[in-house]
This record gives sequence, C-alpha cells and structure tokens, in this order.
Amino acid sequence: MVAPVRLPTEEAIAEAARILRAGGLVVFPTETVYGLGAHALDARAVARIFEAKDRPRFDPLIVHVADEAMVADLCEAVPDRARRLIERFWPGPLTLVLPKRPVVPDIVTAGLPTVAVRCPSHPVAQALIRAAGIPVAAPSANPFGYLSPTRVEHIAPVLRERVDLILDGGPCEYGVESTIVYVAEDGVTVLRLGAVPVEALEAIVGPVAVRTDASDRPMSPGQLPRHYAPRTPIRILSSGETPPVSGLRVGYLAFRQAPTDRAFSAVEVLSPTGDLREAAARLFDCLHRLDGAGVDVIYAEPVPEVGLGRAIMDRLRRAAALME
Ligand code: TXA
Ligand code: MG
Repeated sequence: MVAPVRLPTEEAIAEAARILRAGGLVVFPTETVYGLGAHALDARAVARIFEAKDRPRFDPLIVHVADEAMVADLCEAVPDRARRLIERFWPGPLTLVLPKRPVVPDIVTAGLPTVAVRCPSHPVAQALIRAAGIPVAAPSANPFGYLSPTRVEHIAPVLRERVDLILDGGPCEYGVESTIVYVAEDGVTVLRLGAVPVEALEAIVGPVAVRTDASDRPMSPGQLPRHYAPRTPIRILSSGETPPVSGLRVGYLAFRQAPTDRAFSAVEVLSPTGDLREAAARLFDCLHRLDGAGVDVIYAEPVPEVGLGRAIMDRLRRAAALME
C-alpha cells in the first residue's frame, strides 16, 4: 500500500507522532532534505529504515532531537566546544557526533561508541519530534544509492510503499545535507561537508580538521578516532557447516535456532522465527554479548541474503575481515 501524503496540519503531525511512537516509519521535511524517520530507541523500528532503503549495509544514522535538553539522554558527555557549536547553530543543519549512552541501540550507530545528533530547524520536523516526545532516527528519505529528496515529488515509489505516512512540507530550504562534525575534548573534525560552512564553524571554535573521506564509510578501521569492532575473531560458516572441534572456547551466533548437537561456551540466536527485521535489530546486541563472553572465536551462521539479510551479512563480513 502506498503511504498517504498529508499536509502538515496539527492533526497530521499528531498522527505522524503516534505512528513513530508505535514503531512505524514517517517521511518528514527538514531544512536540508526529507528524512525517513523512526523511533530512535526502538531497534526494530530502526531496522525497518534499513529495510525500506534497501541498504546493503548498516550505516550509522543521525538522531534528531527537538532541543539541547534531549541530547543529555542520548550522549555521555557534551564537550565545551560542542556546547558552543550547539548554541550557535541549533536548531539548524549541524550534526554533532558525541559519545553515546547505552540507551541508544547499536543498530542506530552501527556498533560505534558514538551517536550523531541533530536538531532540525524546520518547523514541521520540530513539531513532529515534540509531539512524538522521542528522539527520531532518520537518514535521507531515498533508496540506497539515489539522490536525497528535497521535495515530496522526489520520493521514490518503492519507498512510498514501505512507509506509513509522508508529511509534505514543500521544498527544503538548503537542499544539501547537514554538516557533520566529530567533537572530541581536544578538537573538532568535519566528517561531512554540508549546509554549515567550515568557515562558520571556525568562527566559533577555531581551526577544525576536515576528514570527509571518512564520511561515507565511518566504520572503516582507522578512519574514525574511535571505532567499534568485536575483539573476538569472527568466522562466518557456510550453510550447513559446523565449527571445527578444537580446544578453543567457541561462541556461536545462530540465525533461528541454537544448535542442539553440540555445546558451545556462549550461544546467541538472532531470530527464532527467522524474521530478518528482528535479526537485524538484535545483531549488534548479540555480537556485543558474544564478544563479552570470554570466548576465543565466534562462529556465525549465514542468514539468507535477501532484504535486511544483505546488510546483516555485510556487517558480519566486515567484522570477520577486520580480523584478517
Ligand atoms: O541533513 C541531514 O543530515 C539529513 C536530514 C534527514 O537530517 N540526514 C542525513 O542522513 O543526511 P544520512 O543517513 O543520509 O547521512 C548520515 C551520515 C552518514 O554518512 C553516516 O555515516 C554519518 O551520518 N554518521 C552517523 N552517525 C555517525 C557516527 N556515530 N559517526 C560518524 N558518522 C556518523
Ligand atoms: Mg543520505
């Protein structure tokens, strides 16, 4: 079914807010581009974003807030430089990457220890986040590999079938995405050039570093000041394969069912019903738990490479490749 497109009346915004709180997807306007929003603290809702976008991998998402107060719930610390940037540029097209609190699901941050937060100035985005009363995770509302939509007419037909409601706020003011900065205690690094110019940042915090080659692949080793990778080696099994018998302590990541013929030191099951959305929502949690279980090696069952299964396998392969 194709999602209804509604003008952003008070009633439509209230309806959109209800959908978000209940785990649905809403396309909404921001001052930069249209966003594809979901409840940021609901891992299953966030999994639907990746499904809707057909993303072959999990990229970390920006979490949208209505004001600075909401940041305290999401981030461990807000360094002084970040506060000054927030004071100057919020609400507006500046995204800050800050250390995350555990409440932010790993699927939002692709397992990174940081979360990107942004407070949009668009009145419809503002009203929606306030009405929902929750932080909203939202990438640009385009299928993977397409241009970001800056008006409702740009929103791809396939995406319209996968969301619950579209709020039409007319054309976006900037039409380019927000500028993304990583803010550490000792300095500011631009990860994506965007609607706030570098010069404007430097007027507030002095010289900044620009490392935009990393913006598309923030999970690549070494490209971010801190990045997450499981410490335990991971091997991906082929279909039907069982881990070799060895003296090692083995962790096992099952897709649907824990193995019954062998005991492992730790076992996690992604989705007993074989639901790829649930599997995606649980992937990073399961990896974290296996990683913390004191095993020597983790064996992961493959999942079907359809829909979100592609992103799950991509993430597993990256985790496995980091060990090579
Ligand atoms: O203007 C915008 O920022 C729009 C509107 C909808 O707010 N959103 C947007 O989201 O452009 P998206 O998903 O298309 O781009 C988000 C970028 C990605 O390049 C991602 O890698 C980066 O933000 N990002 C998110 N969290 C990050 C983190 N913890 N560390 C580094 N980069 C991060
Ligand atoms: Mg995008």
